[in-house]
Amino acid sequence: MQIGPYTIAPNVVLAPMAGVTDKPFRQLCKRLGAGLAASEMTISDPRFWNTRKSIHRMDHAGEPAPISVQIAGTEPQQLADAARYNVDHGAQIIDINMGCPAKKVCNAWAGSALMRDEALVARILEAVVNAVPVPVTLKIRTGWCADVRNAPTIARIAEDSGIAALAIHGRTRDQHYTGQAEHDTIAGIKATLRIPVLANGDIDSPQKAEQVLKHTGADAVMVGRAAQGRPWIFREIAHYLATGEQLPPPTLQEVRDILLGHLNDLHGFYGEPQGVRIARKHLGWYAKDRPENAAFRAVVNAAESADAQLRLTRDYFDALIAGETPALSPAA
Ligand SMILES: Cc1cc2nc3c(=O)[nH]c(=O)nc-3n(C[C@H](O)[C@H](O)[C@H](O)COP(=O)(O)O)c2cc1C
Repeated sequence: MQIGPYTIAPNVVLAPMAGVTDKPFRQLCKRLGAGLAASEMTISDPRFWNTRKSIHRMDHAGEPAPISVQIAGTEPQQLADAARYNVDHGAQIIDINMGCPAKKVCNAWAGSALMRDEALVARILEAVVNAVPVPVTLKIRTGWCADVRNAPTIARIAEDSGIAALAIHGRTRDQHYTGQAEHDTIAGIKATLRIPVLANGDIDSPQKAEQVLKHTGADAVMVGRAAQGRPWIFREIAHYLATGEQLPPPTLQEVRDILLGHLNDLHGFYGEPQGVRIARKHLGWYAKDRPENAAFRAVVNAAESADAQLRLTRDYFDALIAGETPALSPAA
């Protein structure tokens, strides 16, 4: 898939997720096979750019190209300024969020709520595309609600405005994350556009990725929640799409090393205690698929220091690798 001057290969990308796709997670997913990983959204209002959260969100030092940064807002001029600011700070692709149903965003008419106002969408896209010399991509849902599934109209506006690629999550805004994503609307849109289309929603296995690509004709798949605690899903999907064969799951040794590396990166990026707190969320995701992990989660969540978090994680996996029942002692 081509986005402006960038060839995105493999055509399996990480979905932007606020509170999840921070720099350590993006780097990990890219290393494990994601062709692209957009940042968490950055609010377009400059009054928030100096908060600790925004500073972390706008830190792209050391990230492999192309660096894609998502912005969210409602005012065309403010979004244009935010796009420029982010390009000045390393963004090589600007992504506009019209796909997130979060209340905080929707109260301000940002995210997917914007899709209700097609004239405003056109003004925003034009303002941002004209503001920056880099490709601008757009992420949308299929519409506001079942009766207002206007993604095809928004998609046409996007292409006419010079948007370089369009990601579509196969749910309406009022569905939030309930029900099942549908991919028919995405197929319909793909058939009418020249720009690349990324299909998103409920893609959680290599087989599902292949099926969605076939059904929609999309140029790429975008994976969100299925990558939480399973960042190797990108190489699994990419391998299956390229060969038709399934990669074996990662060994316990590899999961241990990936997880310890991830924890170290989180501690380094956020410092203590924030890094330890954020790491708990990821530890929970890594541990969610194995019944014996409930006890591990309970103990490791009590760890207050980076050292204790790392030690408990290493001991737990080492015991599993040795075929022993892990002795779970409190985190001290
Ligand atoms: C915790 C979380 C945070 C999200 N934050 C964003 C966001 O900041 N911007 C955005 O465009 N979409 C956001 N999304 C939506 C995802 O990008 C994606 O469209 C959605 O999860 C469906 O894909 P999936 O079924 O593969 O998870 C978020 C989703 C989750 C679960």
